Amino acid sequence: MNQPVLKVVSITKRFGATVALSHLDLDIHAGEVVALMGANGAGKSTLVKIVSGVYGPDSGSLSLRGEPFAPSSPQHAKRLGVATVHQSIADAVVPTLSIADNLLLDRLCDGASAWRATPAARVDAARPLAQRVGLDMDLSAPLHTLSLAGQQLVTLARALAGNPSLLILDEPTASLSAPEAERLFALIERLRADGAAILLVSHRLGDLRRIADRVSVMRDGRIVADLRAPINFDAAIETMIGHALPADRTALRPGSASGNALFSVRGLKSTPTSIPFDFDLEEGEIVAMAGPVGGGKSRLARVIFGEARAVEGDMQLIGKPWRPRSPADAIRAGVYLAGEDRWRSSLFPDSVPFASIAGTLSFPFLSRWYRRGFVRRETECSAARDAIAAFGVRCTGPDDRLSRLSGGNQQKVVLARWHTEPAKLLLLDEPFQGVDAGARADIVALLRKHAAGRATLVFVSDLEEAFEIADRVVHFDRGTTLDRPAPADSISSVALPPS
Ligand SMILES: Nc1ncnc2c1ncn2[C@@H]1O[C@H](COP(=O)(O)OP(=O)(O)OP(=O)(O)O)[C@@H](O)[C@H]1O
Ligand SMILES: [Mg+2]
Repeated sequence: MNQPVLKVVSITKRFGATVALSHLDLDIHAGEVVALMGANGAGKSTLVKIVSGVYGPDSGSLSLRGEPFAPSSPQHAKRLGVATVHQSIADAVVPTLSIADNLLLDRLCDGASAWRATPAARVDAARPLAQRVGLDMDLSAPLHTLSLAGQQLVTLARALAGNPSLLILDEPTASLSAPEAERLFALIERLRADGAAILLVSHRLGDLRRIADRVSVMRDGRIVADLRAPINFDAAIETMIGHALPADRTALRPGSASGNALFSVRGLKSTPTSIPFDFDLEEGEIVAMAGPVGGGKSRLARVIFGEARAVEGDMQLIGKPWRPRSPADAIRAGVYLAGEDRWRSSLFPDSVPFASIAGTLSFPFLSRWYRRGFVRRETECSAARDAIAAFGVRCTGPDDRLSRLSGGNQQKVVLARWHTEPAKLLLLDEPFQGVDAGARADIVALLRKHAAGRATLVFVSDLEEAFEIADRVVHFDRGTTLDRPAPADSISSVALPPS
């Protein structure tokens, strides 16, 4: 009767010298949402990949509803009732196929017959899946026309298609807006009520507070604590990172502004429908632009970085008009952007030679570092070693491929990249995606340490993060700042800091 849906017994998994999982045990029962918390590199995604049939374990065993469970592939796991939404969306979708075909990908991979249906029939077959997650659009469009949040919903809809008995979600809300995340939680609640078991990996405490029945804390490849309601999340974080977080970490620290204007915008209209706004940033300041996903923050970041054009308005950088024609212009002037979607904007495919930590860090600065066509290996490697130490990247060395790092550690490399050369204006779009609470506190300390001599503008949808990092928080939604009286509903959709 009380047999768990999933039972993991003493699983070990090594990657070369790295022990990712070490004699890990875990049970998940029907009708239960188990949250897995752990620092970046603790082994969460490795566990997810073993349960979902991506890798086999080196030793140990799994059982599903009492039967031995050794899936030979993700499709096999899915047929047995285990559906997974992985952390890296890029690995789970085919950008050139239609949204409908991406929704039906499992069926299309399973048997050739599904391909024989006409594109229109495939759109019809995909529509109920899309509706379940509230994806309301033309499903015949190619997937790459969707926002990151839309793509995430596609992977979710696909996972839910087979009514799984075990649903695994690895950082599912990273790019979802508050209403989209709420819809996901409602779906999870329904599945839980229907007796499914759910394993949720998330660094967002708000998610875990909202939905977790039980929290399993992972450290160095094993479960070190199992907490039941009422769950003490401070204790969970302390167990996970090995020390407490500073108590004053969410206090704003005004006073770092120097009085010297560094960057300003006047009458800027970033989209045809947005209200023009003014904004000033002083040298030394760290300002958070906080607002809901989809409110136009990334668009503004890309306008400042020369990757997109404003509809009208002026920008000034250090007293001169700022009209970058490309990111290369911006980088030359010391304006750097760490983009929101690291897989698309900052990381290289594994196949290119510079997809290492050192190569990723040096890429934007190649013209500075390799002036006469020489590969200055030493410059590159010592910069990489400094960055690894400063950001606490968990890896074996500067030549590690990015694809071998855990998600949060990849994000640290992307942030470190923009610290290898001094910046004038540093733009960080959702910099804490997938970064654990301990690393986040370390990164905030590092950003503060280097704040003098530049201005830092951080775009976040989580108010808790905004207050943790910034000297000043500006609300931003619908392509404009909301410091003037704002429509009440636009602020209420921003996540609130914890009570
Ligand atoms: N394919 C791989 N090859 C080599 N090492 C790997 C591979 N996948 C994971 N690792 C290593 O295994 C360890 C655990 O990684 P994993 O991705 O499971 O961590 P995680 O808990 O999911 O972290 P995050 O919170 O950052 O997503 C890390 O040290 C990582 O570098
Ligand atoms: Mg992970």
